[in-house]
Amino acid sequence: MLKVLNLNCGYGESSVLRGLSFELKEGEVLSLIGPNGAGKTSGLLCLMGLVDCHGGDIFFKDKNITSLPSDKRILEGLAVVPEGRRIFPNLTVFENLMAGGHILTSEECEKGILKSYEYFPILKERKNQKAGLLSGGEQQMLAVSRGLMVNPKVLVVDEISLGLMPKMVDECYKVLKKLKDEGLSIILVEQNTEKALEFGDKIIMLEAGQIVWEGDSVTATKENIVQKIFT
Ligand SMILES: Nc1ncnc2c1ncn2[C@@H]1O[C@H](COP(=O)(O)OP(=O)(O)OP(=O)(O)O)[C@@H](O)[C@H]1O
Ligand SMILES: [Mg+2]
Repeated sequence: MLKVLNLNCGYGESSVLRGLSFELKEGEVLSLIGPNGAGKTSGLLCLMGLVDCHGGDIFFKDKNITSLPSDKRILEGLAVVPEGRRIFPNLTVFENLMAGGHILTSEECEKGILKSYEYFPILKERKNQKAGLLSGGEQQMLAVSRGLMVNPKVLVVDEISLGLMPKMVDECYKVLKKLKDEGLSIILVEQNTEKALEFGDKIIMLEAGQIVWEGDSVTATKENIVQKIFT
C-alpha cells in the first residue's frame, strides 16, 4: 500500500529526518515513537507533501508520489490528523467536517459526514455547536473525522491521545481499531508508548532524526525496548 525508501526531509537547508524506510500493508498500523524533536511530525508532514523532501522515495499503491503536491496525495488516499487537532474553533462541527471534504463532491461530502456521525455519535449531537466549545476529546474525534472525510486508504495520526483523559483515549482507539479492521492502514505518532505498542503492528523508534530501532510490537514489548532505548 505505502512504501517509503530512505526518506530525508527538513526545513530549508537543515535536515531533520534521515533514512526513514518502511512498508505498510492494508490494515496495518505503524507506530512512530521518539522523544520531542526526533522528527516524527516532520516525517509525517513530508509524507503528506507539506514538508520539503530532501531525498528518498514514497510509493503509494505502486505509484511514486514523492513529487506530488499535497492535495493530489489526499485524492490518492492519504489523509492526516494533525498534531494539536487544528480544528476551526469558530465553525460548527458540521462546518468543520465540510471543510475536511472541500475537495469532494457534495454527494461524497454527505456520505463522509454520515459516516463520521456513525463512528462518533457525539458529533451528530453537537453538529451545530461551535467546535471550540467541544471538550478536548470531542475535538480530537472531530479532527479524526475530518481526516476520514476523504475516505483515505492510509490515515496519518499525530499524537491523538495528547491531553486526553484515559477514557477518551480509549474511545478514540476503539474507533481506530474499527477502522483498522475495515482495512484502513494507519501511521501513528504517540507519546503514549503503551498505546503505541499495543495498537501498532510495526514499531519504528526515532531519535535525533534517525531510526534507532525497528521491529514488530511483540518483540518491542517482550524485550522492553522503549525503556532500553529511551531511558
Ligand atoms: N517549521 C519548522 N521550521 C524549522 N524547523 C522545524 C520546523 N518544525 C520543526 N522543526 C525542527 O525539526 C525538528 C523535528 O521536529 P518535529 O516537530 O518533527 O519533532 P517531533 O518528533 O514531532 O517532536 P514532538 O514530540 O515534540 O512533537 C526539531 O528540531 C524542530 O525544531
Ligand atoms: Mg510532533
